[in-house]
This record gives sequence, structure tokens and C-alpha cells, in this order.
Amino acid sequence: MQTLLSSKKIPWEDFQSFTTDQKVQYFTAPDGRIFDILISQQFDRPLLEELIKLANHTRLIAKTKEGLNWLKTLLSHKRIMLYFVQPSTRTFLSFMNACQILGMGISEVRDTSTSSEVKGETPEDTIRTFSSYFDAIIMRHPKEGFAERASWVLNNSDRPIPIFNAGSGKDQHPTQAVLDIYTIHRESSGIDGKSIAMVGDLLRGRTVRSLSYLLTNYKDIKIYYVSPAHFKMREDIKSFLKKMNITYYEYDDLKKVLPLVDAVYMTRIQDEHDINGESKNYDYTNFQLLEKHLPLLKDDAIIMHPLPRRHEIEVKVDADPRAKYWRQERNGMWIRTAMLIKVFAIEDLVFNRKQD
Ligand code: NCD
Repeated sequence: MQTLLSSKKIPWEDFQSFTTDQKVQYFTAPDGRIFDILISQQFDRPLLEELIKLANHTRLIAKTKEGLNWLKTLLSHKRIMLYFVQPSTRTFLSFMNACQILGMGISEVRDTSTSSEVKGETPEDTIRTFSSYFDAIIMRHPKEGFAERASWVLNNSDRPIPIFNAGSGKDQHPTQAVLDIYTIHRESSGIDGKSIAMVGDLLRGRTVRSLSYLLTNYKDIKIYYVSPAHFKMREDIKSFLKKMNITYYEYDDLKKVLPLVDAVYMTRIQDEHDINGESKNYDYTNFQLLEKHLPLLKDDAIIMHPLPRRHEIEVKVDADPRAKYWRQERNGMWIRTAMLIKVFAIEDLVFNRKQD
């Protein structure tokens, strides 16, 4: 392993044959610090706990104008590229604001029709170009695995810079999963021993995949997958859970699961991935959380959603104190700030600053 990674300049064929553990090493800096953030399997419990502490600490610092002004000095010498060629509201804005909180210079490409990709430049050359101007790239791309390829491209160049995966096709969305963990931790007091329902399009939703990986870092977790038969969680995740001794169940009616869980994680049907408009063929009544279902839910349970929502959570549910999705959104900005602090190795500065 050591020899394998003594150089990151390796052929693409070699990278493609890497196991997950080898990839995790590849995305790590020589000093052991997380470098790229690309897959949930990079996060172990100590790292997650450190990020949670860092986010909480940063939030406290940011409570005063003086604290906010101080935070702005921390990365004012760094520039970052937001390359989002798939639609995004929250992930884009929370990352952008996280960068601004730390004083970074920001640029963005949100549509390849406005970049030289329209002239036939490959996405690989586009990534190399970004590395000429920036100190990190935050990217959302429709192609599964492209963020990993981008890491490989830059590691074979003379300017490797960190890459954050802000959503890769139907595959992963690791920073969303970290914010989901932060939300369960913060709004539901800890994660060990919790039962969590994930509801909706589990086949094509990337957030539930990345969150499932992260939950394997905790003790006595039970996962309830609730989905239409056509949109069940894929086998790769289920076999990983089995390997990690995490109990999971599969259901096709949310009402049956509501009394059993400490967190309900709702998701929308990902119909942008339809081939023939197939999403329209099914009935989603059993996968909706309506106001009339709320009495079924435990008093201290929490309701989450990565958003955007459609009809899977009735708007009236928002008024219930257990609905945490708007807080979840805000938690995203702070935990992404923590991830930037960690990747840029300034966590000691933040932890050592006394609150005002
Ligand atoms: C999710 C995504 O893009 O995967 N949204 C987000 O990042 N908050 C979920 C979704 O689009 O359904």
C-alpha cells in the first residue's frame, strides 16, 4: 500500500482497479489528513466527531461581529471554484456561504454552455484549467465517478488541489451525508442506538446511499428502508451494511414504520433519471408524510429531508416541532465550513480561539 501511494501519478487503469480502502488512501494527504472529500467511506467516527465539534465551535465564534470578521481572515488568501453543472440550490449556496464565512475568493461555473466545454473542451481539461487558478474545487456533476476521475486527473498533473464532491450522479453526496449526521447528532442528541427510516426513491437517491455508509460508524443502528418496489435500495449498500453488522429492514408503507423510529429521512422521487417517464406509473401514497400521520411518530423523533421537497411532506407538517429540515439546511452551511477548515488544516486556530 505504501509503495502504491508513494506516487499518485498512476495510470487510470490502476486507479480503476483500486479497492475502496485504496481509494480512501488515495484521497488522503501524505500526512494522513483528508485531502479530497469524494466518498462517505472516507469518514470514520473520530473525523465525524471532530467536524461536529468544529462546526459547533465555529457557530459560536460567528455569533459576534468580531468573531465573524476574524473567521473571514482565515482563508482570505485562498480561492475556490464552484463547478456545479447539475441543478443545485442548497448545496451550492451553503458551500458558497461557507467559503465566504472563511473569506475565500469564489468563482463559479454552473452551466457548461457558458464554459469552453461548449467548444469541445473535455471535462478533464476543464478541471485542469481550474487547478491553474484555484486552491480547491467544489463540484457537482451528473456523471457517477467523475469527481474521482477529476482527483486522478489532478494527481497526475503538477497542481493537485482538493476536490469536494457536492453530488455525483446517482452515486454519492458525501457532504450532504455529513450534514445529515450533524443534524441527527444535534437535533436528536447523539446517534448511537438510533433507528432511522429512509423513505422514497432509494434506488436513485444519492443522499440515502451516502448516509447509509456514514451510519455504519455508529453503534446499535437500525435502518428502515421504505420505498416502492421499483425504487429499493441497491444491493451494494445492503451488502455493505451486512458486512458492518448493521440491521436493516425493508418496508413498503411509511405508516408502519413511523412508530418505530427516532428519525424519518424523507426523499423525493428522482424522476430526472427516468428513461421513459416510468416514475409516473406508480402510486406514492404510502411514501408521504402527511399531517394526519404525525400522531404515529414518537414525541422525540425528528423529521428530515435533504430538500427539495415535492408532495412527500405536506407543508402543514412544517409547523410540527419535530420537523427539522429547515434547520438541517442551515446545519449544512456550518458543517461545510468545518470541512473547509479541516481540509485547509486550520482547525487548531479555530479551536484555540476563545469565544467572545
Ligand atoms: C439532494 C441532491 O441533490 O441529491 N439535494 C441536496 O443536495 N440537498 C436531494 C435531491 O435532489 O432530491
